[in-house]
Amino acid sequence: MHVPTVIEKKREGQSLADGEIRDFIAGYTCGDIPDYQMSALAMAIYFQGMTAEETASLTHAMLESGEVFEYPDTAPLVVDKHSTGGIGDKVSLVLAPLLACDELWVPMISGRGLGITGGTLDKLESIPGFDVSRSREQAMQQLEEVGVVMMGQTPEVCPADKRLYALRDVTATVPSQPLIVASIMSKKLAESLNRLVLDVKHGSGAFMKTRESAESLAGAMQAVGEAMGVDTRTVLNPMDQPLGQAVGNALEVAEALDVLRGAGPADLRQIVIELAAEVSEVDAGQLADWLDDGTALQKCRAMVAAQGGDAECLDRYDEVHPAAVTREVMSDRSGVVTAVDADRVGRASLALGAGRACADDEIDFSVGFDRLIKVGADVAAGGVLARIHAADDDAAMVAEQQLREAIEVE
Ligand code: URA
Repeated sequence: MHVPTVIEKKREGQSLADGEIRDFIAGYTCGDIPDYQMSALAMAIYFQGMTAEETASLTHAMLESGEVFEYPDTAPLVVDKHSTGGIGDKVSLVLAPLLACDELWVPMISGRGLGITGGTLDKLESIPGFDVSRSREQAMQQLEEVGVVMMGQTPEVCPADKRLYALRDVTATVPSQPLIVASIMSKKLAESLNRLVLDVKHGSGAFMKTRESAESLAGAMQAVGEAMGVDTRTVLNPMDQPLGQAVGNALEVAEALDVLRGAGPADLRQIVIELAAEVSEVDAGQLADWLDDGTALQKCRAMVAAQGGDAECLDRYDEVHPAAVTREVMSDRSGVVTAVDADRVGRASLALGAGRACADDEIDFSVGFDRLIKVGADVAAGGVLARIHAADDDAAMVAEQQLREAIEVE
């Protein structure tokens, strides 16, 4: 294969053959095709799109870049959920252990921060000692013992997505339907699931800005899942304001732990229960009880301990990553909050250091926002709109300005 010719073909809007897509992904995964050529193809796909056939080829090529999970005959139902990404979306941190309370197996393969959105793996890695790289054998053993594992793509499982995901994050090639379908579905198909629920976001803080584009993405993922025999459900959810009241890695873990203690923001708790009920064998009432009575928190502790994490620190998580500077942003008027723009909040969080600009950037677990006010809330002049966690005063000052542009009070 002459790599520049394949890139040129897609750049000119032609369809790629199954063999060209498979050879490209195989070459990229083994290191024969460098990042700059993969970036060029990703950008060509971003602009020109892909047909349903090309998208299926890309998904299969990425799935087949690695191993898939195999379960013993005695395994229970295997289920999972995946979100297309949003601001403050820490649902997986609560939902995975919650689902495992039902004796189901939850082999969740997630990603790092992507574009303006945070990533489950980065959030988990804020837990001291937590290891997101599991071999297939370690994952199987943990499913037998705990029922839930939360891990990343590895050199054995979804290696193509591991590399391409990190590349897309820093080359502005994330919001492309075929690239999202292949990225998400290659991970979920590698898990060999019985049931999958996809949380498809639309709005300013989502990759799909309109409901129509989210519907199209949902349909494309559902088609791939069902063609592979997975009972796939999709739920569309707005992402115009951040989910919950915290944005930033450690701050989101703290908020997820609140929900696992039966507290936390109502919107977060509600979406966790709604999505879990789509794939669970028990009803929403039972799921709510497991949040309220500590069963889900216990499951989370067991999972953290099984992956080398410090389960004790979960009881005092707000002390684990204190930011150098915290500052409240006060409203300069009284009124009702009419907007908390998720896109602007996400970008402000990135600017504080919660995400990456280059693939090998270190992220700062401590920074971000909490106590974020919600749309519809009444606020008095001098009332708190949000609290900033920053590395220094200058960063806090910039973030305050960005938050003021994101939050509207009328
Ligand atoms: N989540 C993923 O795993 N991949 C994407 O491309 C978007 C969201």
